[in-house]
Amino acid sequence: MTAARIIVNGKETPIAPAAPHTTVLDFLRGRGLTGTKEGCAEGECGACSVLVARPGVDKPTDWVAVNSCLVPAAALDGQEVITSEGLATADESGAPPSLHPVQEEMAVRGGSQCGYCTPGFICSMAAEYYRPGRRAHGDSTGTTDSADPAGHSDAEHGPNGFDLHALSGNLCRCTGYRPIRDAAFAVGTPTDEDPLARRREQSPPAPVATEYAQDDSAFLRRNTLAETLELLRERPDAVLVAGSTDWGVEVNIRSRRARCVVAVDRLPELRELRVESGSIEIGAALTLTAIERRLDGAVPLLAELFPQFASRLIRNGATLGGNLGTGSPIGDSPPVLLALEASLVLADADGEREVPLAEYFTGYRQSVRRPGELIRAVRIPRPLSRVTAFHKIAKRRFDDISSVAVALALDIEDGIVRKARIGLGGVAATPIRALATEAALEGRSWSTETVESAARVLRGEGTPMDDHRASALYRSAMLGQSLLKLHAQTTEAVSS
Ligand code: FES
Ligand code: FES
Repeated sequence: MTAARIIVNGKETPIAPAAPHTTVLDFLRGRGLTGTKEGCAEGECGACSVLVARPGVDKPTDWVAVNSCLVPAAALDGQEVITSEGLATADESGAPPSLHPVQEEMAVRGGSQCGYCTPGFICSMAAEYYRPGRRAHGDSTGTTDSADPAGHSDAEHGPNGFDLHALSGNLCRCTGYRPIRDAAFAVGTPTDEDPLARRREQSPPAPVATEYAQDDSAFLRRNTLAETLELLRERPDAVLVAGSTDWGVEVNIRSRRARCVVAVDRLPELRELRVESGSIEIGAALTLTAIERRLDGAVPLLAELFPQFASRLIRNGATLGGNLGTGSPIGDSPPVLLALEASLVLADADGEREVPLAEYFTGYRQSVRRPGELIRAVRIPRPLSRVTAFHKIAKRRFDDISSVAVALALDIEDGIVRKARIGLGGVAATPIRALATEAALEGRSWSTETVESAARVLRGEGTPMDDHRASALYRSAMLGQSLLKLHAQTTEAVSS
């Protein structure tokens, strides 16, 4: 094991003397790279965005933007990071570095006023600039990321194929977004001489085993699942992290510290995605972005979830294992996975067991997962229900916590509801299935009468409460509306 270090803008930089909980943001700023800013320290503003080299889709390396305020520096031991300073290219002459094409567009189109948010925007834009599959309108060789597979421009996709959702995790308080969008929609395609485009041709750094300890706290990473499970047997008190998008908030905002943090995000056994005739198995440590791109709409309910599940910056780090492992009653994936009748593959040093997600949560942030056990994979049975919807009610369109979330998956044959599975979030101490509503639908016609009656049942599911996000009454009302909305949409689809 070598001394922990990160390759920052091409230069090996030791992580010491940073503490094991020190974030990448503080690590960078402590080394004079103050372009990377802290706005919120909880993953909501993107001022801290940096690029990380990760295994690529079409080439060995992809540049992925992440929130550096959430990731412990020790988690990037051996990895390669580019900051806004590193995007500009310098030569030997001592002349000022030339701006990166993304920086150039932001400058000439007035995309920056006070400049506080700008380096973060620049890094998120740069990731989209290099995204595999981004192609200008009219170039049929590529694919776009989401709503517009033909590559046509619309309000959220530029004529250059730029997907504005890449910036959904970046906030600007003074420029206004129009000049920023102008800059995004003006960037061209990387040239063959572009150093970061050329860098994509080589492999990213491999994950390295890490043992970074100071005083009574440690950040540890092992190379294999077996080694990790042995470690967890010795340290059942360890906090497990993948993208650290939840733990990073706990560290920054609630000042929580752990004696032992164990990283699982690069374990190959937790990063597989298998689509088989009877099931789809998704590795617990695959990022949501990776799942979204690899499934490419094969599970429509998940495809509907992802754009609403936080920002692209968060989805580049967040995992299903993390979203389920925290046991939060307002995580966005549990309602969807409940509606899909998913089960979890739990592993410890003695072996594996499979637990239906409906039996996994036992109380507020509690589950049947035992100390020393981790979530290896999520298994979704096939065939999938044909009629599905995910409705997230939140105050901000992107990157917000749900007030209520409803996922519906129905099998409707000859106008009769053969099977109904409904997952709810935000209406009880745990995510729940709406069992009474499912019973009120099954075996009945998919008619206005049935749906209105079932919507009344759905309004009574769970025990919603009043809090700063929404009142109990509002939450109940939204449950019923969700079913009515799905019915209206399916009826429109049939009659159109
Ligand atoms: Fe706001 Fe990191 S500082 S997202
Ligand atoms: Fe001031 Fe964006 S330019 S916050």
